[in-house]
Amino acid sequence: MSTSQFTERETEVYYDAEDVVYREIWDPNGSVHWGVFDESTGSDFLKAGANLNHIMARRGGIDTKATVLDIGCGNGNACTWLYENTGCKVVGIDLSGVRVEGAKERLKTLVPDVQAHVSFEKASATDLPFGDGAFTHVWSQASFYHIPDKQKTLEEAYRVLAPGGTLVFDDLYKPRPDISENAWKHVYERLLFDTPFNFTSYQDALQEAGFQVLEAHNYSHHLKLSYLHLSDVASQRIGGHLTERSEYLAHAYKETALAVDTREIGWALYICRK
Ligand SMILES: C[S@@+](CC[C@H](N)C(=O)[O-])C[C@H]1O[C@@H](n2cnc3c(N)ncnc32)[C@H](O)[C@@H]1O
Repeated sequence: MSTSQFTERETEVYYDAEDVVYREIWDPNGSVHWGVFDESTGSDFLKAGANLNHIMARRGGIDTKATVLDIGCGNGNACTWLYENTGCKVVGIDLSGVRVEGAKERLKTLVPDVQAHVSFEKASATDLPFGDGAFTHVWSQASFYHIPDKQKTLEEAYRVLAPGGTLVFDDLYKPRPDISENAWKHVYERLLFDTPFNFTSYQDALQEAGFQVLEAHNYSHHLKLSYLHLSDVASQRIGGHLTERSEYLAHAYKETALAVDTREIGWALYICRK
């Protein structure tokens, strides 16, 4: 059941159109997820993004024997990262045809060994084209919040996991129900999402879908640091070919960082077992 006024079709159109903007501001290679900052990353956003990959792979127990499904893989960067860093097999799916094509094109430029272990398909998280128990791990970064039918998403993730398999994902949550007009406009409406879950009720929903929640980490502070960085980058792009969009995003990203302080948006990492 949908818990959002936005639709999958709107999200698909948004990501097809915005890919070029994200590459300009977030990462020229097309990664679009937030970072976890520590001594190893300093204030480097891309290192912080790679740090999230390391944390998720380690805590999720992904190794050479794993078969991983990346839900909302975007341009497929985490999929190739996972193979290169763990030796596992990875399938990435995404709703955006532009991004799946981008992922496939990039894969063609990589060595045959990577091509033999990584593949991409256009599909929705709510209707996964895989059999029951097909994967040892389901991985997702910065994607579930977009999906209007959250329960169906969790049920599908559960279905395609083998017994004892692991779901490792990060997602946005709504710390409180009363959202100001400002936060609604610059965070929720801008990203075409709404969610019924706060940090704790998300875990209840995971349990209802059959998962055992092994770990839950509140990374909201890192979300704020990510958006402060992105706001600075967007400001620096003003005067380039994306001036109008950059001006808007510099402002919206700053408002998103502020919404973390006012507890109107939060970010969490969950590790769950089937
Ligand atoms: C913020 S991007 C993250 C992409 C990627 N995980 C990364 O870290 O770069 C969110 C992605 O979720 C995808 N997405 C949104 N709704 C989806 C759905 N119902 N099924 C599959 N992918 C979806 C979008 O197309 C987009 O590529």
